[in-house]
Amino acid sequence: MTYQIGYLVGSLAKGSINRTLARALVASAPPDLEFTEVPIGNLPLYSWDYDADFPPEGRAFKRALEASDGLLFVSPEYNRSIPGALKNAIDWGSRPWGQNSFARRPTGIIGASPGGIGTAVMQSSMRGVLSFLDAPQLNSPEAYITYVADDFGPDGTVTNETTARFLRHYMDEYCAFVQRVLAANAPGHI
Ligand code: FNR
Repeated sequence: MTYQIGYLVGSLAKGSINRTLARALVASAPPDLEFTEVPIGNLPLYSWDYDADFPPEGRAFKRALEASDGLLFVSPEYNRSIPGALKNAIDWGSRPWGQNSFARRPTGIIGASPGGIGTAVMQSSMRGVLSFLDAPQLNSPEAYITYVADDFGPDGTVTNETTARFLRHYMDEYCAFVQRVLAANAPGHI
């Protein structure tokens, strides 16, 4: 069976290292997973004034989340937290009240930074947000990637064999997790 995975890149930068990481993750994933990017860069800044009538960008964003069997967040850490553009997108997806598009959808969180802790603090913030939104998260393995430019090609190739092996392992575990959550969500499952 094939599962549709929507991935969100938390950086709007053209040369984003997290976009490079996202390409590597797609290339490292088992064939059961099909990927579509869920773009976040065209969303206005969220306000609940929009709740009565979401604009087309907000509606398209929620449709893309809801068309996904699983979501994968590939994000930098900005000032020890979630980048504003990504938090804004999550706020859009969580509303209007009672129409939280993240609920019960399996998620993975991964990120790259040139620094040694590899987005660990951002990921910790994300876990609090996604828990509040009732989104199950892959807990293990954790994936804190210290980005070394020479390890990644522009097309998703990973030249460092240790990193390549870890990314394949991460995506295998993510795939198994998505399958488990979807099975648990299926009607009739207790
Ligand atoms: C950073 N950077 C950064 N790195 C980190 O490990 N922890 C942090 O808290 C921050 N804070 C931070 C804030 C802002 C506003 C910027 C622009 C950058 C450095 C960051 O990891 C680096 O710029 C990466 O290249 C960002 O990822 P993308 O945007 O290239 O995917």
